[in-house]
Amino acid sequence: MAMRGVHIFTIWISFLLMLTTALAEDKKSYLARGSSVSTQNDTKTILVSPNGDFACGFYKVATNAFTFSIWFSRSSEKTVAWTANRDALVNGKSSRLTFRKDGSLALVDYNGAVVWSTNTTATGASRAELDDSGNLIVMDQTGHRLWKSFDSPTDTLLPLQPMTRDTKLVSASARGLPYSGLYTFFFDSTNILSIIYNGPETSSIYWPNPYYRSWENGRSTYNSSQYGILNQEGMFLASDQLQFEASDLGDKDVMRRLTLDYDGNLRLYSLNTTNSKWSVSWLAFPRVCEIHGLCGKNSFCTYMPSLQCSCLEGFEMTEPSDWSQGCRRKENIRVKGDHNANNNTEQRFIFVEIPKIDFYGYDFNYTLSVTLPVCKQICLNNDGCKAFAYRKGKGECFPKALLINGKKFPDPSNDIYLKFSKEASSSQLLASKPSHICKVTEKDAYPSSQMFEGTHSKFKFGYFLSSALTLLVVEVILVTVGCWATYKWGRRPEIRDKGYTIISSQFRRFSYKELEKATGFFQEEIGSGGSGAVYKGILDDNRKVAVKKLNDVIHGEQEFRSELSIIGRVYHMNLVRIWGFCAEKTHKLLVSEFIENGSLDRVLSDHQSLFPVLPWSQRYNIALGVAKGLAYLHHECLEWIVHCDVKPENILLDKDFEAKIADFGLVKLLNRGPSTHILSQVHGTRGYIAPEWALNLPITGKADVYSYGVVLLELVKGNRVSRWVVDGEEEVELAVKHTVDILKEKLARGDQSWLLDYVDCRLNGEFNYSQAALVLNTAVSCLDEERRKRPSMNSVVEILLSLME
Ligand SMILES: *[C@@H]1O[C@H](CO)[C@@H](O)[C@H](O)[C@H]1NC(C)=O
Ligand SMILES: *[C@@H]1O[C@H](CO)[C@@H](O)[C@H](O)[C@H]1NC(C)=O
Ligand SMILES: *[C@@H]1O[C@H](CO)[C@@H](O)[C@H](O)[C@H]1NC(C)=O
Ligand SMILES: *[C@@H]1O[C@H](CO)[C@@H](O)[C@H](O)[C@H]1NC(C)=O
Ligand SMILES: *[C@@H]1O[C@H](CO)[C@@H](O)[C@H](O)[C@H]1NC(C)=O
Ligand SMILES: *[C@@H]1O[C@H](CO)[C@@H](O)[C@H](O)[C@H]1NC(C)=O
Ligand SMILES: *[C@@H]1O[C@H](CO)[C@@H](O)[C@H](O)[C@H]1NC(C)=O
Ligand SMILES: *[C@@H]1O[C@H](CO)[C@@H](O)[C@H](O)[C@H]1NC(C)=O
Repeated sequence: MAMRGVHIFTIWISFLLMLTTALAEDKKSYLARGSSVSTQNDTKTILVSPNGDFACGFYKVATNAFTFSIWFSRSSEKTVAWTANRDALVNGKSSRLTFRKDGSLALVDYNGAVVWSTNTTATGASRAELDDSGNLIVMDQTGHRLWKSFDSPTDTLLPLQPMTRDTKLVSASARGLPYSGLYTFFFDSTNILSIIYNGPETSSIYWPNPYYRSWENGRSTYNSSQYGILNQEGMFLASDQLQFEASDLGDKDVMRRLTLDYDGNLRLYSLNTTNSKWSVSWLAFPRVCEIHGLCGKNSFCTYMPSLQCSCLEGFEMTEPSDWSQGCRRKENIRVKGDHNANNNTEQRFIFVEIPKIDFYGYDFNYTLSVTLPVCKQICLNNDGCKAFAYRKGKGECFPKALLINGKKFPDPSNDIYLKFSKEASSSQLLASKPSHICKVTEKDAYPSSQMFEGTHSKFKFGYFLSSALTLLVVEVILVTVGCWATYKWGRRPEIRDKGYTIISSQFRRFSYKELEKATGFFQEEIGSGGSGAVYKGILDDNRKVAVKKLNDVIHGEQEFRSELSIIGRVYHMNLVRIWGFCAEKTHKLLVSEFIENGSLDRVLSDHQSLFPVLPWSQRYNIALGVAKGLAYLHHECLEWIVHCDVKPENILLDKDFEAKIADFGLVKLLNRGPSTHILSQVHGTRGYIAPEWALNLPITGKADVYSYGVVLLELVKGNRVSRWVVDGEEEVELAVKHTVDILKEKLARGDQSWLLDYVDCRLNGEFNYSQAALVLNTAVSCLDEERRKRPSMNSVVEILLSLME
């Protein structure tokens, strides 16, 4: 009876505890000095504003990469309003937000690196709160504000958050990515709120309209207070007399945000409470071609009805399907045509007229009131002149050194004359058309009202930008963050923008056409598996590649891309390098380096002696290489990537018989289950799969360790696991178990004489006994039924290195 009383008492107490924790969960009104929240806590939300409109916490960018952000809680998709560490993502494993004892609020990565912190060290900071306007505030005991997120916006300005001389909005580098992009909204030195494009080669302000002076744009340079604010009714007012209003002006209950989007357009969004979706209620550029940096040099932008970039006549895309790289001349201008008997510049060049178009800036020696021939002559006289613009009416002549930010320019009529050397041009120019057209259509983010004269009731725009600078930034970040850090295109409405191309200088998007060409319409199949067939191909730059047609890919295009971008990051000498991918409609392909000597299974199961027998030293080296590759995936990536299908078919051998693991990360791409973190849905290959698969336990890196153990045995025995089955009835799983049991017995013996019979007889006894014993010992421990007892891949590498010659 007494026992029972105690029992009930315990239950009662635990119930109370649960209740209080639940309540505490619910409240989360502030974070106190000295407290800390880890990314590992199940709930990623740390604080919620009292009105419930905003929350802050760990925002998942991709599988294991997080930012500390403030987001709108009432929109259907989490919409980030502010990010602490947009350029340095933290790991999902044991990173934390801590309100340190020294008074600063800090974001600490898994390795202890402080990625971000507030400047409240050595102050009386006592608590952090998220207020109803979405402002995260660090305050002291008296409520005095020491730091606020409103002072350091990222790409979004919230109502009542002032724009000042110290604040600026910087666009994201691409749709859905957190990283800093190339566009900035700020007060320039003349007190004008402007948007500047900071490209890798050029910078230019494109808003307000640079063709006009500030007063013509309705702005004033005189008020130097540099202050602007979006009020709760939806009206934006600034000290330079800039004023604009939301199409739903006056409604105080609407949630709004002003965001400098990744495409360089500034948009005011309103949240529709009925469907919890954002709609654009004002935007700076209804005509997107006025935004700088969209189409690269020597190309021009048109917009009817969606954004298009086209190369100028006689030019071709520098990088297929990446417009930010612009276009290059099909042939160079031959300026130094010395041996020409007729040494007359006028004879050596011709001009090709392209009417009603203009390129912004890079004019030199602007001349007014000249005739066309004079303007031509000015351009001829100067080697640096690539083209000139000419406006007939006033006889304005603009010789140009660089052709960037091109767009249609019908009024005033402005014609471009491209300078070409005669030899290079004559044949191809006559027949030329705009060589490449890039059409981008996109559904989200267009104004809901008829604010633009009703002509384009269906605005479609959006263009992915990638440029060397973004890439550089991203590259640097990724080097710092590690291989799991990634881009996110995720969780916004489905889009089909074709422009996202180069993710790094190496990893890029390929067009399906390009791959058709490279593989000769998928002629030479070099392998096939559950995930798809692999074809050999040769790229334009003569790189040999393996092109894999993926069979059954995860549905979300964006998810596909973000996971892919992680795979594209992974670089290790024992992993097959992924060069890029193709995603066009139903076509999903991966492009990777071509590995000369095929897969390990070819060599192992070669019973017709087609290949020379793999000598022991190479086998040992392959064992070590595979271990290194897996260790990299498991440990340097912090167990981010579990291969899930380690087997000889996925171990390729290069020309020096160095092992390279293929198909890592495919688990994330293939459509094998609704949940991305429960990998148990994925099926490995029988004989290689760890017992926990059958038990439906979560799959960790230790499952790969098991498969690796099987591969080790295969390497030593020189035959495939499928041949270990002694009589036809035995299951391959049982055969592995038997093999291990027998091996354990043998290893327990004192002498090593049995090795001679056990190791591949094709080696004729030519192997290192201590190495063989070590490999077999390692294999046995890798094949432990209990996964906790299996070694990590890191320790396997260490073990094997200990006997490396
Ligand atoms: C997060 O988890 C840690 C331990 O895992 C715990 O001490 C801490 O209180 C948790 N924080 C929240 C906000 O749940
Ligand atoms: C922190 O920086 C902000 C903006 O630079 C400044 O307004 C604030 O006073 C600083 N806080 C402390 C405690 O130094
Ligand atoms: C300058 O701008 C500020 C902020 O918009 C405003 O309060 C102030 O009255 C302006 N000053 C003048 C002289 O217009
Ligand atoms: C909000 O969305 C609903 C459903 O899509 C639509 O009917 C309604 O007109 C929208 N309201 C506004 C103000 O746009
Ligand atoms: C042609 O002109 C260049 C300079 O424009 C001069 O250097 C060169 O000597 C000339 N060649 C002949 C053959 O006249
Ligand atoms: C600019 O053009 C004028 C003719 O309009 C010419 O005399 C002058 O040399 C040119 N200057 C340069 C730097 O090309
Ligand atoms: C491995 O590659 C080298 C170089 O390409 C080649 O000479 C050799 O025959 C290949 N060996 C096998 C077994 O394919
Ligand atoms: C086997 O390898 C180990 C480590 O490289 C080496 O020390 C030993 O001499 C080798 N034994 C034979 C018999 O080659």
